[in-house]
Amino acid sequence: MKYIHILPQHKYPWLEVLYSMVLDIKPKVIVEYGTEHAGTAIVMGLALKELYEKKQHKGTVHTYDTFQQQSKGEIGSSPSYNIAVQNIQRYGLQDYIKVDRGDFFEFCDRPNKDFDLLYFDIDNDGDKVLEMYKGCVENIKQGSVVIFEGGSQVRDDVEWMNRLNKTKINDVKDAVGYDLLTPNQKYSCSIIFDKEKYSL
Ligand SMILES: C[S@@+](CC[C@H](N)C(=O)[O-])C[C@H]1O[C@@H](n2cnc3c(N)ncnc32)[C@H](O)[C@@H]1O
Repeated sequence: MKYIHILPQHKYPWLEVLYSMVLDIKPKVIVEYGTEHAGTAIVMGLALKELYEKKQHKGTVHTYDTFQQQSKGEIGSSPSYNIAVQNIQRYGLQDYIKVDRGDFFEFCDRPNKDFDLLYFDIDNDGDKVLEMYKGCVENIKQGSVVIFEGGSQVRDDVEWMNRLNKTKINDVKDAVGYDLLTPNQKYSCSIIFDKEKYSL
């Protein structure tokens, strides 16, 4: 993992897991929803850079955010298009990461979605995970992989999930069939893939 030592400083303790999943999956098209300041986009962009340098594998992260304060997030994210672009430039990843405005719910409703890996991180709760699954199940059946923030019991019990009476992500676990990659962590990370096609 060539660029593991320069991953952004971040509250998520599992960025190395995300990096290694990109190396394993070798996606050409990564779609991310929930850019904020481009932390996770940069992690995936660095993994794509490594794949290009070692295997001439060409991939791009297309990262989207509504870039509106508290946009359906309700918990006080502070997204900024300009900061995201600056951070991507600071890492020299402009050829690997394209950032734009976009709404996850509009994406879920879109009929012909094209991605090898979807990473979504929009202040997730059970309802959002379920909506994602309904919108992306055909892609998953065809071999696309979804990774998302959340999925542990402790993550479901954070203050804002309880205060806002959000559906727990664990409540939709059976419906969407996700696997937790990082057990017992508040900021956890989970994966959905077709188990008839791949194994972990
Ligand atoms: C937890 S932050 C993302 C963290 C980011 N991935 C990182 O690396 O730090 C959640 C982001 O989701 C965005 N968001 C919330 N609802 C959204 C929606 N419907 N579509 C796109 N982005 C959304 C918020 O604006 C916020 O920037």
